[in-house]
Amino acid sequence: MKVIRVANENDGGKEALKVFEAALANGARTFGLATGGTPETTYKELVASDLDFSRCTSVNLDEYVGLGPDDPQSYNYYMRTRLFDAKPFKANYLPDGLAADPDAEVARYNEVIAAHPVDLQLLGIGRNGHIGFNEPGSPVDGKVRKIKLTESTIEANARYFDNEADVPQYAYSMGIGQIMAAKQILLEAFGDKKADAIAAMVDGPVTPEVPASILQRHPNVTVIVDEAAAAKLK
Ligand code: PGA
Repeated sequence: MKVIRVANENDGGKEALKVFEAALANGARTFGLATGGTPETTYKELVASDLDFSRCTSVNLDEYVGLGPDDPQSYNYYMRTRLFDAKPFKANYLPDGLAADPDAEVARYNEVIAAHPVDLQLLGIGRNGHIGFNEPGSPVDGKVRKIKLTESTIEANARYFDNEADVPQYAYSMGIGQIMAAKQILLEAFGDKKADAIAAMVDGPVTPEVPASILQRHPNVTVIVDEAAAAKLK
């Protein structure tokens, strides 16, 4: 893992922009994208840049079950307002939170991912070490599935909702096996709440209890961390 330390998340976004620029220049055309607080500065940099994604495809990591594209808490809405409205892609794929048949939706999204091998996958990390919504104990060879979110994740994501009770209990998420299949991975983490997870991911043993630790076995991972998130690294 290549660890890049930055002073703050604004600088983190600037470093991430460089990774996207280099990937595009090297022919990357399929981008695995993430939501949440972490990639906000990266998307701001991408929007402000002159990068052209019109011949590119995006495949998002996850979506809440039960939220449609017009719901401001949905990841579909997030992606349109943070990136896609300003930077059109050839195609954007996300799980459909309103799908009537969850099993069919899981099968559909697995096909989407199989048809669009990811060149560069952007990731955040949960306080419990999750990647996507692959919570501790998730299978390392896993594919898309409907996942019950842990209390820790619901609590962390409650800040975006009026009440904790409004946070969906389930999400569709790409599996760890599919994340590991990306040619290149860029993981970002900012703030002291991520320090334990970052230390466990980089310096700890590879274990399903820290889903991100499997990234130690991926040949091309860049980690961008601010000082607070890096505080517990060896
Ligand atoms: P955050 O979430 O970017 O909102 O902190 C990251 C994650 O849970 O993967």
